Amino acid sequence: MIIQKLQLCKFRNYDSVEIYPNEQLNLFIGKNASGKTNLLESISMVLTGKSFKTNRDVQMINFDEEDASILSKVLIDGLDIDLELNISKSSKKKIKINGNDVKRVSELTENTSIVIFTPEDLELIKEGPALRRKFIDGLISSVNLIYSYNLSRYKKILNDRNDLLKNPRRNLDNDIMLGVYNIQISTLGNYIINERVRFIEILNKIAKIEHSKISDNREELNIVYNSNINRETEGKSNQEKEYLRQLENSIQRDKYYRNTNLGPHRDDIEFYINGKDLKIYGSQGQQRSVILSLKLSEAILYKMFKNISPIIILDDVFSELDIIRREKLISSVENYQTFISMTDDMKVDEFNKYEKSIYSIKDREVEKL
Ligand SMILES: Nc1ncnc2c1ncn2[C@@H]1O[C@H](COP(=O)(O)OP(=O)(O)O)[C@@H](O)[C@H]1O
Ligand SMILES: [Mg+2]
Repeated sequence: MIIQKLQLCKFRNYDSVEIYPNEQLNLFIGKNASGKTNLLESISMVLTGKSFKTNRDVQMINFDEEDASILSKVLIDGLDIDLELNISKSSKKKIKINGNDVKRVSELTENTSIVIFTPEDLELIKEGPALRRKFIDGLISSVNLIYSYNLSRYKKILNDRNDLLKNPRRNLDNDIMLGVYNIQISTLGNYIINERVRFIEILNKIAKIEHSKISDNREELNIVYNSNINRETEGKSNQEKEYLRQLENSIQRDKYYRNTNLGPHRDDIEFYINGKDLKIYGSQGQQRSVILSLKLSEAILYKMFKNISPIIILDDVFSELDIIRREKLISSVENYQTFISMTDDMKVDEFNKYEKSIYSIKDREVEKL
């Protein structure tokens, strides 16, 4: 998909701005706090109805105003489409596609596709496993509805089981109830682990290639799914039986901790560069490069599964990347419409060749150089 026109009105620090982006690269250059991230946020807002910075829509209305709007003309599958989003302090946000009110945001997101990198994404590597599970679950869910359905069923039953462990019922045979949960959990849990393993194999293949490009063939990336369920057996029904056995074996521990200790809700994903654990040994630049390789893989997966070429947004992406990686990154995104923000202290000559792609952001105006 391609954004052909973007128009902001009273959005964040902007009063009124209109731009006609390039079909490929768009580089937004400006000083700190000039409004680069705000501009990128407006793109994600009009394409998905959601900001990557806040859940509170009113924060995006200019301080001195009562409402804000974003209009965009996009090309999806050869069709010209008008998107419009209005935020107001006094009413709910309104989304329109070709002038018609949209009731559910999914009507919008089913037709659009976007991949966003922000510096906060580095937490994916640095922080605990919950973020990594969320990342992989989000990715699988966006291309596999059955996974998304089974994942929420798993979470629901896990919650019920934990609830029973925390508050054993007086007038119920708790062990029988736990036994019922164990059977449901082992089937769903096994499904989730299998899907994650299968998906990570695909992701690993793609990300390895992307990472090799961005690191100029110096680094080999490996992504490994690490389950706390022992899975040495082959075949679905054997795996489920083995899972159930482990769940039953840990019941005393679960009762003691009043929590389910085993299962995909405790699993993790590990990243290795040339065989070394990225979280422990990787430099900032390497960690950033891995996140970018994952994002580029996400874009490829959307193309594969959803058949939509996504828009790529890279906020403040260049710091800690050397000149080779900066150039490799730009060449990796050349088949997508891409929006990149950067501060104006980067060496200007380096970007001379992208002259036609540069926009300068200054004094609440966005100007094409
Ligand atoms: N609702 C708003 N109304 C007006 N200005 C805002 C609003 N929200 C944020 N800003 C201003 O936008 C600036 C930050 O813009 P941002 O896009 O994050 O900058 P950067 O160019 O560094 O990415 C800050 O000066 C902030 O005060
Ligand atoms: Mg910023």
